[in-house]
Amino acid sequence: MPDFEALIQEIQSCTRCALSQKRTRTVPGEGSLAAAVVFIGEGPGYHEDKQGRPFVGAAGQFLDELLESIGLKREDVYITNMIKCRAPNNRDPLPAEIQACRPYLDKQLEMIGPKVLVTLGRHSFSRFFPGESIGKARGQARKMEGLVVYPVYHPAAALHNPKLRSVIESDFKKLPDLVRRVEKELAVSEGKAVSQLSLF
Ligand code: URA
Repeated sequence: MPDFEALIQEIQSCTRCALSQKRTRTVPGEGSLAAAVVFIGEGPGYHEDKQGRPFVGAAGQFLDELLESIGLKREDVYITNMIKCRAPNNRDPLPAEIQACRPYLDKQLEMIGPKVLVTLGRHSFSRFFPGESIGKARGQARKMEGLVVYPVYHPAAALHNPKLRSVIESDFKKLPDLVRRVEKELAVSEGKAVSQLSLF
C-alpha cells in the first residue's frame, strides 16, 4: 500500500511538535493493514522510542499475552498510539501534542478501516469519549465517529494494579465475539454471505 508507506515516512520525518526534538525514533505503529481490529495506546515509552516499535516493553508483553489469550498475534491486528514520539519521562501527552499528531492517527484509521477499534487506557479513550469515565465505559462497545470503539484499561494499569488484571483479561475475552457481531452486521448491511468472514 504505497500511500500507507508514504504516511509512515511522513511520520518518521515529522517536526510538528517539540517531542520530535528529543525522540530517538518515531513509533508510527505496526501490524496488518487489513486488520479488523486496531489497538490505540497512549504513546511510546523508553523501549518503544529506542526500537521504533509500539508496545515492546513490559506493557507490550502483557498485551501480547492478552492477544494470545484470544488466539491473535500482533501480525493479525494493527497497534499504534495517540502520539508517535515519546514524551519526556513518559509524562502524559499534552493536548497540543495529541492535536498535532491527530491527522496521522486519522489517516491510519481511514486507510486500515478496522471493524473494531480498541482504545487502551484513558488517553485514547478520551479522544472518543471526552469527559467520560473509563471505569464506567470499559468493556462496552459503542459507535463513535462512524467506528465501533471498545474501551479497555491500559495493559500498564494492570501491571501497577494487579486487581485490574482480571478486568482487562475478561474485557479481551469479549473481543472475538464483538468482532464477529460487527462483521456479521456489516455483511448483512452489504448483502454479503456471512460465512467465512471472521478473523476468529
Ligand atoms: N504504552 C503505550 O501506550 N504505548 C506503547 O507503545 C507502549 C507503552
